[in-house]
Amino acid sequence: MLIKFKTKPILEHTFEVIISSFLKNEIGLSDDFLGTILSKQLQGNLLQLLVEKQLKTAGIGHKKGFVENKLIRNDLIYWLDRKHNDVHENTFFDFMDRFVQYLNETCYTGITSYEFHYAFYDKGSFYKKHLDQFKKNNSRVYSMIMYLNEDWQPNDGGELCVYPYGKAQVISPINGKCVFFKSDHLEHEVLLSHKPRMSITGWLKSDA
Ligand code: OGA
Ligand code: NI
Repeated sequence: MLIKFKTKPILEHTFEVIISSFLKNEIGLSDDFLGTILSKQLQGNLLQLLVEKQLKTAGIGHKKGFVENKLIRNDLIYWLDRKHNDVHENTFFDFMDRFVQYLNETCYTGITSYEFHYAFYDKGSFYKKHLDQFKKNNSRVYSMIMYLNEDWQPNDGGELCVYPYGKAQVISPINGKCVFFKSDHLEHEVLLSHKPRMSITGWLKSDA
């Protein structure tokens, strides 16, 4: 297969970094997961979708339990899909296919599918402390968030706050950074953002 992103050894090194930090700290971190080129292309897509008003208010819950609750979260989202035939979205999916394959081969994780959306937190947005797994559906196994923000400053807010081993850890949503954690296990929140904040968020799922 033609690799449009990182070469195989660099790719596998990237995967190792995030997996080994996850195994050690309950939260996997990589400072340069997708790489600068793909991150920039996806950020371009997100900005375009925003102009076209394609992003929609995110909700909480699943299927019939779905409700909009702007007191809990007030970001806008747009689901990625291979059916869009967008070249950068498809490169992203190729990348994630490689990651899932690596994870399943090295850690026997049994991931069978995934879902990803762009997220846009306008100035004044947040997402209160939560778990990513739905009460009536436990198919989400791992959560992943990839940030698409250049020049994020300490006073811009919008940090992801996670609680590994019950202790707060604050993560700045800096471009290229990816976080990885168990969806049913790790509570987290997005602190009030003082400027527009962009990311791709998704879940690796097991249908077993
Ligand atoms: C989520 C979430 C965190 C972030 O979408 O479930 O927790 O940093 N996002 O965007
Ligand atoms: Ni979450």
